[in-house]
Amino acid sequence: MGKMDFLKEELNRLKAEGRYVNIRALNTPQGAWVEIGGKRVLNLCSNNYLGLANDERLKKAAEEAIDRYGVGAGAVRTIAGTMELHEEFERRIAEFKKCKSAILFQSGFNANLGSISALADEGDAIVSEELNHASLIDGCRLSKAKRYVYKHLDMQSLESTIKEALEEKPRRIMIATDGVFSMDGDIAPMDEIGEIAEKYGCIVYVDDAHGEGVLGDHGRGIVDHFNAYGKVDVEMGTLSKAFGVMGGYVAGDEDLAEYLKQRARPFLFSSALNPGDVAAALESVKILEESDSLVKKLWSNTEYLKQKLKDLGFNLGTSKTPITPVMVGEEVKATELSKTLFEEENIFAQAIVYPTVPRGKARIRLQPSAIHSKEDLDYAIDSIERVGNKLKLI
Ligand SMILES: Cc1ncc(COP(=O)(O)O)c(C=O)c1O
Repeated sequence: MGKMDFLKEELNRLKAEGRYVNIRALNTPQGAWVEIGGKRVLNLCSNNYLGLANDERLKKAAEEAIDRYGVGAGAVRTIAGTMELHEEFERRIAEFKKCKSAILFQSGFNANLGSISALADEGDAIVSEELNHASLIDGCRLSKAKRYVYKHLDMQSLESTIKEALEEKPRRIMIATDGVFSMDGDIAPMDEIGEIAEKYGCIVYVDDAHGEGVLGDHGRGIVDHFNAYGKVDVEMGTLSKAFGVMGGYVAGDEDLAEYLKQRARPFLFSSALNPGDVAAALESVKILEESDSLVKKLWSNTEYLKQKLKDLGFNLGTSKTPITPVMVGEEVKATELSKTLFEEENIFAQAIVYPTVPRGKARIRLQPSAIHSKEDLDYAIDSIERVGNKLKLI
């Protein structure tokens, strides 16, 4: 037996358990329609909420930055990787989020890993939402703080978990939560969380990956949506979803970014984001500041799609955002729905199954975008109705 034979065994086990993820390669840019293996399909999968991933203005900004600064940042930020662009982005995103400082990371995942582990240490406690994204969970695991988990969206559970943590007399308690939950599309009540945090003196950390560009005035995110300014201490965001590019950031009060620049390990030990990406993301922030038309289009598309699917009798779970889960239940049925939509109807909508969601709560997750036309949505609705009837989902 070879030393690495365990890889094949593990892969076979994943396949047997239905947990093997098939990765489809696109040969077109992200858009309303994409091409996969020579087949043109309606894209209802991507997090390209505002359609900025292939926007001409962003591409032009990236091209100009590449002409001026080249393709690579050359080093970690603390050595030689910081360009004026990185600092300009940090100023602009802080302003957009109505915060006093911001720090740029290479991805949202890195932002969570680096910031949580730098903000909470031995002797501290992290009270973490049950359905938090993997990057928050991993950030908590990396930190030496003691971890406690509270029930999904349950404020009584949050309060009793804080009381439980207090029994150990931690130096500080940090509440860590997703703003919008990526598999269900429901929203953490940041106003109530803020009040509970105030009562017990807890730090509040929110992952706004699916909130920015989507919620709040001009897509400023979840804090703006709840008018919870002053109640949230740390706002993390990604530049890879509504902003259409790549990268992550953390925003907050004056000292936050300065502190993280000294302590967050992905900032200190991984090279800076490429100039083209930073310039493109900066252009996204400018576009959102100038106009809320894309955000409005995203919401009108979302409302149209959701209402039509509800009218047809589909169960869309508890979503309050563009994330539109079409609940199926059994894993095999969700996979069949996704496969039939792809093969017979030219619709790209991935199935989400255990362990990403609990067993028996399998679904397909639809992601409407501002770039879908009404015809695109009608096409999707007709197809989903046809396949839903065929599979006896409605
Ligand atoms: C809630 C949440 N946080 C963080 C991330 C990570 O962001 P990025 O793709 O920029 O690494 C994601 C993306 O998958 C996410 O959904």
